Amino acid sequence: MNHNIVILGSQWGDEGKGKIVDFLTDKADAVVRFQGGHNAGHTLVINGEVTKLRLIPSGILHDGVKSFIGNGVVVSLDALHTEMEELLVRGVPVFERLRISEACPLVLPIHVALDEIRENALGDQKIGTTKRGIGPAYEDKIARRAVRIGDLAHPQKLKAKLKALLDLHNFTLKNYYKIETYFDLDETYAALLNYAKTILPMVTDVSADLNAIRLRHGKIIFEGAQGTLLDIDHGTYPFVTSSNTISGTVASGAGFGPCYIDAVVGITKAYTTRVGSGAYPTELFDEIGEHLGTKGCEFGTVTGRKRRTGWLDLVALRRAIEINSITSICLTKLDVLDGLKEIKVCVAYELDGKEVFYPPYGNADYIRCKPVYKTFNGWSEATFNQTDYNRLPQAARDYVRFIEKTLNVPIDIISTGPERNQNVIVKGIF
Ligand code: GDP
Ligand code: IMO
Ligand code: MG
Repeated sequence: MNHNIVILGSQWGDEGKGKIVDFLTDKADAVVRFQGGHNAGHTLVINGEVTKLRLIPSGILHDGVKSFIGNGVVVSLDALHTEMEELLVRGVPVFERLRISEACPLVLPIHVALDEIRENALGDQKIGTTKRGIGPAYEDKIARRAVRIGDLAHPQKLKAKLKALLDLHNFTLKNYYKIETYFDLDETYAALLNYAKTILPMVTDVSADLNAIRLRHGKIIFEGAQGTLLDIDHGTYPFVTSSNTISGTVASGAGFGPCYIDAVVGITKAYTTRVGSGAYPTELFDEIGEHLGTKGCEFGTVTGRKRRTGWLDLVALRRAIEINSITSICLTKLDVLDGLKEIKVCVAYELDGKEVFYPPYGNADYIRCKPVYKTFNGWSEATFNQTDYNRLPQAARDYVRFIEKTLNVPIDIISTGPERNQNVIVKGIF
């Protein structure tokens, strides 16, 4: 039986990770975020009630389950506070359930300003970030000057680190970007200290706590944010996020060794979406693309932006399966394809007159790739709300089988609606 599983996005994010993490949490002891920040947006629907999470793991609604924010996550205390408040007013005992690593770097207001200003400066080359300050916060982490959650416990040290960081970035804002906005040390310091009382009691050694759960044979879900093709190394650079989004990041971002992981579940939308700029060979610009967007409610959870839409891409998925060692797929939003006359799947790219079966690493080559499609018959019956595999339309089953066969990975769960229990369980994962 699997005890410790990673659940992550195998495409460009928004695959439905949050829904599946929440669904599987009834069997878990802990759910852990290990990278990203509040650029993530995970929507859960339980008996019609919608919960939108950004930083807090998607297991938070379950009694008796601990939610951990690992050291690999960059934390905006403003965003965390807002999200906690949203849950507390609904009676979710966040203080009891949530624990945070002292090693999480902070996302500060000055990072948000830098993110926004840089995006504006890029003009039509912009990345299309969520403008949440994620990139600049990770830069400070790698440059070894980040202010971290643990610094809240040492006010003098906190002030000195904050001063060095603000001096540097204020200088850049003024002299490089010619922006008059100035971030005041005392104001920023006071705002951070204000959060210390609520945040510090939740601070823990996440790695030690997770390993204690492992040693008593508990079950842990590691919840990825974003998607594999947004990974800083393996994605469509530079149109990526600023963290590693792949399964290997569990080790560095939560302090949990790779050999303790039993399974990696790739959450895969039955079509594709992407928010922001960058290569996207199967993107649709026609009424089918519009249809997928409307029926799939493809608007960003965080920014409300309209998501780009397209056909499923098995070339990109092949890469995701290999670099994550995906052991099974959870295919989501199959119901969104209900009623389409035909459905296309990209099986190869054509690049410079040759067929290729892996995505190129450079965005410049990637944007020149043309999709090679295999076309399937659609189905008129509903897969929506279906929970029995044998009652799925034959054409839908053919579609599912083709994906499994081409990628040589089983599809263990098929999600047929946004509600927690709208799933076909082909094989228990956990
Ligand atoms: P995440 O970032 O991967 O957690 O995904 P998001 O929550 O940003 O986006 C997925 C959206 O699709 C959310 O609005 C979910 O409620 C919804 N959703 C998830 N699974 C399904 C499904 O199987 N069918 C339909 N129709 N909607 C789904
Ligand atoms: P979840 O967890 C989809 C995208 C942004 C942009 C790029 C860089 O909900 O799947 P950033 O703010 O991270 O520097 O933006 O990454 N992006 C996401 N797209 N889902 C997400 O998260 C995303 N988080 C970031 O749109 O293209
Ligand atoms: Mg999302």
